[in-house]
Amino acid sequence: MHMAGADSALVVAAAPRRMRNADAAWPYRQDSDFHYLTGFPEPDAVLALLPGRVRGEVVLFCRERDAARERIEGACIGPEQAVARFDVDDAFPVEDIDDILPGMLEGRTRLYCHFGRENEFDAQLLRWMRRLRSSRGGGVVPREFVALGHLLHELRLYKSTAELALMRRAAQVATTAQREAVRAARPGAGEYEVEAALLHAMRAHAAVPSYPPTVAAGANACVLHYTANRAKLKQGDLLLIDAGAEVECYASDITRTWPIGGGFSREQRAIYDIVLEAQHAAIDEVRAGRAFTAAHEAATRVIAGGLCSLKLLPGGMRSVLKSGEYQRFFPHKTGHWIGLDVHDVGDYRVDDEPRMLEAGMVVTVEPGIYIPPDDATLAAKWRGIGIRIEDDVAVGARGNEVLTAALPKTPDGMLALCGG
Ligand code: GLY
Ligand code: MN
Ligand code: MN
Repeated sequence: MHMAGADSALVVAAAPRRMRNADAAWPYRQDSDFHYLTGFPEPDAVLALLPGRVRGEVVLFCRERDAARERIEGACIGPEQAVARFDVDDAFPVEDIDDILPGMLEGRTRLYCHFGRENEFDAQLLRWMRRLRSSRGGGVVPREFVALGHLLHELRLYKSTAELALMRRAAQVATTAQREAVRAARPGAGEYEVEAALLHAMRAHAAVPSYPPTVAAGANACVLHYTANRAKLKQGDLLLIDAGAEVECYASDITRTWPIGGGFSREQRAIYDIVLEAQHAAIDEVRAGRAFTAAHEAATRVIAGGLCSLKLLPGGMRSVLKSGEYQRFFPHKTGHWIGLDVHDVGDYRVDDEPRMLEAGMVVTVEPGIYIPPDDATLAAKWRGIGIRIEDDVAVGARGNEVLTAALPKTPDGMLALCGG
């Protein structure tokens, strides 16, 4: 609120309920910005921050309690409890927002909000402005509409102690889920059975997936966002599991690539060792004062050098880095911010320079090598190998913390878990 200034206002809406079909809704997930500011878990709510308002600066509009609706949809919080339980100063029924909010915005110079995200909110915002302009004597409409993202997402980028505690829990549930999943990963099982074990472990800890899990056996691992999860696991294949858990809206994001029904083949192991070395090198760059891009550069050097040593790419590391040819096998970046969203908000560049890492930021580190199954330029023994190793790493004032470190990633550690 202080960043926005005393002559401004800030308005954020809850995520709407989204219908799957007829009257069946998708599982509800609160809007991350709204959750960040309120912790309020319901749809049909709007937060207004009104610096200097005498009767309270933090105002929430939410559903009124309604016995008939609550019999169908379950208990609702209501304006009275919202004030008592959610650290808001004042609350009103959301049904009355068109009558109340425009007057609260009157005379303020700047309005911070999201536009172009939700049609219904955009329309509502214009309706409030029209209402204000047509009020008796002609109300003073804010002169500036400022995209809220820059202000809020800058705050969300730096995680507080309490947020880090939730992220540790999300990481812990995801590591438990992978351990359970890999027990179900035997030759002949379906990828969906491994997915079932993941989901079981997450729900058993009151968490939900932070994105649809990838359970990719063999060459399916070369499809980066594979989520069909309907193939069978074969002896000797690798199994890539990319699955994160969400705890109180905070995400984790882990990938491990397991050998199925035995050990790694010589080729699988050669590629695995490169990815693991790349990941170690990248994690070592996740430190306050280093650029966000340093982890990717470190991973890329190791992967390019490794692929050249195995003669999977012609020439040497330098030429392959320069030409970008390594991207044939490593086509994505090494990480992203993570927080309330799995691909979290926050600018990656500042003043057109890569952003420097600072304490409180959390990133994923996820290098991979994927050799397309139809790449006829390589010997058949290499084709269809897809390996990624992904951890969540918090930047601290002194060094970093790998939130997902509890899940093994050395070949020996993995074989001990998957019975090789
Ligand atoms: N699970 C999505 C990602 O790794 O970015
Ligand atoms: Mn990721
Ligand atoms: Mn992932």
